[in-house]
Amino acid sequence: MTSDRELGVGVIGCGGIANFAHIPSYLRHARSRVVAVADIDPAKARDTAERWGIGSWYQDYRELLARPDVEAVSVTTWPAAHASEVVAAARAGKHVLCEKPIATELEDADAMVEEADRAGVKLMIGYQHRFGSVWPRVERLLEEETIGRVMALSIVSCAPSSHSAPWFLQKRYSGGGVLMDWGIYTAYTINWLFGPVESVCAESATFRPNVRVRDTLLEGLDVEDTVAAVLRFRSGAMGTWYSCWAGRASHGYTSVDGLDGSMVVSQGDRRGISLYSTRLGDPEHLGGWRVLPVVEPPLSEVHYRKIAHFVDCVLDDAPLAVTGADGRDALELVLAIYRSAESGAPVRLPLARIPAAARQPEGKG
Ligand SMILES: NC(=O)c1ccc[n+]([C@@H]2O[C@H](COP(=O)([O-])OP(=O)(O)OC[C@H]3O[C@@H](n4cnc5c(N)ncnc54)[C@H](O)[C@@H]3O)[C@@H](O)[C@H]2O)c1
Repeated sequence: MTSDRELGVGVIGCGGIANFAHIPSYLRHARSRVVAVADIDPAKARDTAERWGIGSWYQDYRELLARPDVEAVSVTTWPAAHASEVVAAARAGKHVLCEKPIATELEDADAMVEEADRAGVKLMIGYQHRFGSVWPRVERLLEEETIGRVMALSIVSCAPSSHSAPWFLQKRYSGGGVLMDWGIYTAYTINWLFGPVESVCAESATFRPNVRVRDTLLEGLDVEDTVAAVLRFRSGAMGTWYSCWAGRASHGYTSVDGLDGSMVVSQGDRRGISLYSTRLGDPEHLGGWRVLPVVEPPLSEVHYRKIAHFVDCVLDDAPLAVTGADGRDALELVLAIYRSAESGAPVRLPLARIPAAARQPEGKG
């Protein structure tokens, strides 16, 4: 049954993505309103509330969670802060839309998923490309077996990094570099479209250890800017994945080879999906590649669809397209690649737990 009432939302973290996507989308959606925001930087909380005409702001997010008119929250802080905020929100009975990555440690991600389940609240992770046009189209082509059984895939994803804040390049806040920030979208997509990965073998490097982010020169970076991995899927398929934000130019693609055809999705290509399929019944003389026109909406629109989906699922008690468990599994794949790159050995999934006492202490933001 659908409900026509408005969902009361709070936003924790008043930075870039909150102001670009979350707050404007909640305000645009007819079924939600933003009643309060919070940020450890009080100036950011106040400026954000004033900018969008939101009645209340807090420096301590626990005050926001104490409000009965806050029924759901967006968690848009840096990754190392997500776990404590999501667990506190679930315990307060709030539904949560948490930005990617779900957390920086697998144990934290498990605790977040468990706490949301225990509290009976919804937990969604912010993978907006699930709500775009290109990847759902790829999903349909795979489901329709247009290229037959998938044998292998290859992913190249490169662009110069242009971060808005230093924390993106500091492991204690971000949990990692190019793979944790950008690669986590790919990890989610890999799991979604091609099923679980069984083992990984990877290398990583930091080719630019000193980087300027706005006015801050960061030296001796502890996060990777380049990763190359070989994947083996539980289905038997195999793949390679190379990701880099140390280069000068943006380029990349995902190619998928099946027993009956191939597909190529090029990064930034607005023409669509290149497809070769022996199943489409082309006469022999027309055999070859075709381009399926797929127009990707502007990013702000894709974010809007993601946030509207969250609001509608909460109000209508409908299943989420992207769950906390999906976010947890994407994190596990990224962490498996990190473990392999560190140890120089192949790593199998699911990951064995590392006891808390043996883990490096993390200064959580
Ligand atoms: N889905 C996407 O397209 C997308 C794009 C950009 C960022 N992100 C993700 O969104 C999150 C935020 O990124 P951003 O670019 O907005 O960063 P940002 O630095 O602009 O904003 C983060 C804000 O969180 C605040 N904060 C940190 N800890 C807090 C706490 N405990 N309580 C309250 N506020 C706290 C900071 O003061 C800052 O204002 C990250 O997880 C990032 O990976 C997602």
